[in-house]
Amino acid sequence: MDNAPLHDRLNLAMAYERSHAIDPRDRQLFHVCPHSGWMNDPNGFSLYRGEYHLFYQYNPYAPVWNLIHWGHYKTRDFITWEHLPVAMAPDEEYDRDGCFSGSALEVDGRHVLVYSGIREGRQAQCLAMGDGVAYTKDTENPVLLPDALPEGSDRRNFRDPKIWHERDGYYMLTGCADQTGLSRVFLFRSHDLRAWSFVSVFLEGDDTVRGGWECPDYFPLDGEKVLLVSSQQAAENGVEQPSGHITLAFIGDTQGHSFKPRAKQTLDYGSDFYAPQTLEAMDGRRIMIGWMHAWEHDPVPEGFPYKGMMTLPRELRIEGDRLTQRPVRELEGYRGEGNVVDFALQAGEARSYPGISGRALDLTLDVQQSDRRRLEIELACDERYKTVLRYDPNECMLTLDRSMSGCGAGVAVTRRMPVADRQGRLQLRVIMDRYSVEIFANHGKSVLTAAIFSPQTADVIRFRAEGTVRGELKAYPLVFPQK
Ligand code: FRU
Repeated sequence: MDNAPLHDRLNLAMAYERSHAIDPRDRQLFHVCPHSGWMNDPNGFSLYRGEYHLFYQYNPYAPVWNLIHWGHYKTRDFITWEHLPVAMAPDEEYDRDGCFSGSALEVDGRHVLVYSGIREGRQAQCLAMGDGVAYTKDTENPVLLPDALPEGSDRRNFRDPKIWHERDGYYMLTGCADQTGLSRVFLFRSHDLRAWSFVSVFLEGDDTVRGGWECPDYFPLDGEKVLLVSSQQAAENGVEQPSGHITLAFIGDTQGHSFKPRAKQTLDYGSDFYAPQTLEAMDGRRIMIGWMHAWEHDPVPEGFPYKGMMTLPRELRIEGDRLTQRPVRELEGYRGEGNVVDFALQAGEARSYPGISGRALDLTLDVQQSDRRRLEIELACDERYKTVLRYDPNECMLTLDRSMSGCGAGVAVTRRMPVADRQGRLQLRVIMDRYSVEIFANHGKSVLTAAIFSPQTADVIRFRAEGTVRGELKAYPLVFPQK
């Protein structure tokens, strides 16, 4: 494939897709996976002609990152996705080494994609237009070159354009850093999407995150503004910022053309979360989807047929100083008959509940841990495997332990998530699909996402209490047409 003539690359990828698809038994049931091969960042997550489109960084040929194309799906409800032909291949001189991440917008009935074209280390912003299925790259590409960056910028890292429209024109944010490695997000403006001019440094990072911000996303929410950025080089800063890759959310407002944050948080405490994008749904909700994988700490075991998947789309709100996330409400339409139980465990007791098990599940637990001793929830268990969620009410901490989750050797075995001190009271929503666990604590105030790879027969859920616990447990199987 690497040796094929450049202009054949799209046809080759389309033909390959037609004869290669992951076996449905290996796919997630309701989370987006690559059609085949490799998936990283969500791209162009947008509403176009009444449907929601999602593109993604895609190598159809193998489960490794290489010669990145844009894969394509669409949906009406964020749960059932329709596969569409690969939208873009790296088939022009200016993007021959990859069509990197970007965003999309509906403009005069056309679907406009903006992405970073990569060629021999040069990163430049490019355009493509389409009708929701087929896309054509613009003859004026690249439309924005790294020379447009101010003096002192690291011009080799200039990518991941996020565009939107305002009354006075189109705006674009890109991620980057300065030459000393300090992260920056830049703002550009255009009247026609083709001629762009530099406006400002929109936000500048500090020493805790170096090496460049990637994949900025920016949107109004609940009367304020939110900026999301991802970085692969966060310095460890307690539990709030694990070292390595991280996505930060800033809540604030603009002053002139720069962003002034009033609050900052780690968006997801799991290691399998990166480069999220958002869109505004037809009913006004702000919906976010992220890459549920990792550049470092690869959780996928040897021999698994693909790499990378997406999170469940999540509804965002601002509540106080927090950006909260809840599973998209459309998921509730896929619930089977639920089980509700009075949850009561004595000190030292371990038990399961009849009917509360499975690997495609929507589970809610509301507990009061009065003597402040630890509670463990063992998910996806059999005699050999388990994925353990441990609540420590003294430390106000949830820990997810994947040492027995069937992951590959590169996995980050444990991840910790601080939860607010509510005197031993905790509300949890856990969404499980075949190969993932997403944990929303205290109505989405803190979230932890993890891929797991134990066999599907590991489907027991067990609770283990050190002290006395009471509460309510609800579980709904998630039911999909047989795949
Ligand atoms: C983020 C990222 C982007 C880049 C893309 C390449 O995960 O590094 O900055 O556009 O992946 O696939």
